[in-house]
Amino acid sequence: MDVNFPDEFLWGAATASYQIEGGYNEEGRSFSTWDVYSRVPGNVYHGDNGDVAADHFHKWKEDVAMMKELGLPAYRFSFSWPRIIPAGKGNVNQKGLDFYDRLVDELLNANIKPFPTVYHWDHPAILDNTGGWTNRDMAYYFADYAVLLTEHFSDRITNWITINEPFVVALMGHHLGVFPPGLKDVKAASAAIHHLLLGHGLAVKGMRTNAKQPLQIGITLNLSSVESATNSPEDQHAAALRDAYLNRVFLDPLYYQKYPAEITGELGFVFPEGFEQDFSVIGEPTDFLGINNYMRDVVKFNPADAPFTFEIVYPKESSYSTMWEMYPQGLYDLLTRLKKDYPLNAIYITENGTAVTDGIDADGRVRDSRRIQYLQDYMASMNRALMEGVPVKGYFVWSLMDNFEWSQGYSRRFGLIFVDYENEQRRVLKDSAFWYKNVIRNNGFNFKTYYTEPF
Ligand code: FCB
Repeated sequence: MDVNFPDEFLWGAATASYQIEGGYNEEGRSFSTWDVYSRVPGNVYHGDNGDVAADHFHKWKEDVAMMKELGLPAYRFSFSWPRIIPAGKGNVNQKGLDFYDRLVDELLNANIKPFPTVYHWDHPAILDNTGGWTNRDMAYYFADYAVLLTEHFSDRITNWITINEPFVVALMGHHLGVFPPGLKDVKAASAAIHHLLLGHGLAVKGMRTNAKQPLQIGITLNLSSVESATNSPEDQHAAALRDAYLNRVFLDPLYYQKYPAEITGELGFVFPEGFEQDFSVIGEPTDFLGINNYMRDVVKFNPADAPFTFEIVYPKESSYSTMWEMYPQGLYDLLTRLKKDYPLNAIYITENGTAVTDGIDADGRVRDSRRIQYLQDYMASMNRALMEGVPVKGYFVWSLMDNFEWSQGYSRRFGLIFVDYENEQRRVLKDSAFWYKNVIRNNGFNFKTYYTEPF
């Protein structure tokens, strides 16, 4: 094999509750913040929402059978808070737990390691009435919910991710205003950053206390390597600001118990009073860092939005709605930088993948060669970092199956498995799924060219 992985390397695929489950009003589930947000005209492409999604709530058995067919060793999914604690706090909905009991037991029977996320953005909408993540209480509600999950599932599940991408919730939701709750307010964003981190720290501590066995717990951050467009001091400074805003704003409090100087200084974030006292909780030791990575950021100075003087010149924003950039070197750069700057013993790539406009051909095949090329090259880049000593322990493709891609609705297909939304949600393994099956079986791959058009 040209590219080999260590024997214990963990391969998997990822999904998230709101993106795949559907069953939005079944068995006691309440509305999530995304049910509300997606119903507001203009928020989501084509007016799509997650009411039905990939109907995993009904097709979970079939989906686990497909994972088994792929030889998937691990599956990352997320629990739906509104299914389990519909009011956000207090009463537990037994039927919600039952659904995940069935799923988890089916996974274990198929010899697939469940690797769940506690919170992947879909908190009960009712919590937004009291300020959502801008309210300090939210951190405690979240921790209670996390502890409930480990009390119930830790006999069968050892690996846990507390929160997926706090950047998206805090900054995209409260500063850029492009995700729920749709605010453009630095103070609200500051509070959300801090309370998400506090919730994470409280959860880690609580989850361990009540666990039925020692747990492996981490948080998942979306991180990217940030490059300056030129060597000019202005552009380099802009890149440093972007790095603080995207990466270090979460890494520094988690690993060094402080916010980056650029965040509290030049960028003007104002954290809730007494925030320093929470750092000992926020810095509660974890067992691994989860990283979601898709692309890099190339940045230049632009005073228009001062003090946010970093403009992303490449990839352009349109890359989210069209094709995502393929820049595998970015993952290597990110991983080696993290090893240099942070005390990390274990890293999981909890998401990586790309959206491809694919469809079922007349012969029934889905030829997503561009995705295979992307995955191969990113895996090779990760492998290079691994060989140089970066402790990468596993890798999850985003996504196991096509699903509701947030503000892009169903227009973006990230899956290894094609979901035919119009035809009874039929599932079809794409070419990339068969390719991945071989990677898993061989614990590596030989290089090949799958896709030749420029990305
Ligand atoms: C990440 C999200 C995930 C998915 C991918 C494409 O930011 O965590 O849910 O939408 O992007």
